[in-house]
Amino acid sequence: MNLLVTGGAGFIGSHFVLRHKEESPDDTIVVLDSLTYAGNKSFLEPVLNRIRFVQGDIADVELVTQLIVRYEIDTIVNFAAETHVDRSIKNAVPFIHTNILGVQALIEVCKAHPAVRLLHISTDEVFGDLADGDAPKKSGDAFFPSSPYAATKASGEMLLLAAMRTWKLKIAITRCTNNYGPHQAEEKFIPTVVRHALRNEPVPIYAQGKNKRDWLYVTDHTDALEVILKTAWAFFDPEVPGVHESQSKGSGHRFNISADDERQNIDVAKMILQIMGKPDDLIKFVEDRPGHDWRYALDSSGVRKLGWKPKISFEEGLKTTVEWYRRRA
Ligand SMILES: NC(=O)c1ccc[n+]([C@@H]2O[C@H](COP(=O)([O-])OP(=O)(O)OC[C@H]3O[C@@H](n4cnc5c(N)ncnc54)[C@H](O)[C@@H]3O)[C@@H](O)[C@H]2O)c1
Repeated sequence: MNLLVTGGAGFIGSHFVLRHKEESPDDTIVVLDSLTYAGNKSFLEPVLNRIRFVQGDIADVELVTQLIVRYEIDTIVNFAAETHVDRSIKNAVPFIHTNILGVQALIEVCKAHPAVRLLHISTDEVFGDLADGDAPKKSGDAFFPSSPYAATKASGEMLLLAAMRTWKLKIAITRCTNNYGPHQAEEKFIPTVVRHALRNEPVPIYAQGKNKRDWLYVTDHTDALEVILKTAWAFFDPEVPGVHESQSKGSGHRFNISADDERQNIDVAKMILQIMGKPDDLIKFVEDRPGHDWRYALDSSGVRKLGWKPKISFEEGLKTTVEWYRRRA
């Protein structure tokens, strides 16, 4: 494959690039990343001399087109996004730019180069939250985004669905639950807990910390993406309306990816403190996030039928993650 990995210097994208180059050294990888606060070229250091790195914006159709042509790209994997819910509550404009206009720009490029396949990374947050006891969301369930971030990700998905149907573009969409692991921007939940605990500062937890998230180790996520990249296109049938894998033709256009390992935030914070040898009383409850989603859960049977399952236990993944942040401190 000749891959254009957009957002490849971010948390999940960098793990995807490192792992893909290791496992498929002959594939061409071009990373396009605008290097926002969340991107860090040094994450790609081990492979930088074997890939192309271009700093730029996915919303720049001309630039993306040039890269597609120059490097004979056959597949785009789009991780580029504004991703932090709290930032989107303060200012949604950058989210609209990258998560909506940026996605439409990739669609424009694929319209002009319809042989190019686009794997787009989305989020469980498009479905909104679940009450305790609700069934996990299936890949074709309706969207009820709660935050501006989730709304822009849902909008991007809608544009992609329309593009699949209208121009028969080769697009697949994945939604994952909360990822954790090295390289995540420090404002996210797990890095925040580690950072404050390292300094023996109060660890801020929204409300009473009872909200639940389903944690997925980042390389388990990228493994699922590799399985989808290798197999999803074989099922591809742009004529299938509704496009999700539960439909009759086994079409694999939208995949949910989850480890099925739900935990309350407070329990995760306590596990981190225990790994770090810090006392629980560092935890300080703070005013809740407006519109804070209670629980996410995804039915990931589609990707599991393709042979994927997570390998890293939460305990193991959390220890590796804490150790990585501790070494960088
Ligand atoms: N991290 C999670 O827990 C999680 C969960 C569900 C879904 N996702 C989705 O996975 C994808 C990757 O998330 P992440 O956590 O790695 O994000 P991240 O914020 O760590 O990285 C995003 C990357 O995109 C780059 N970028 C931002 N705007 C850009 C633009 N206009 N043009 C080019 N590059 C741009 C940034 O520089 C950064 O390198 C996102 O689409 C996100 O919505 C993430």
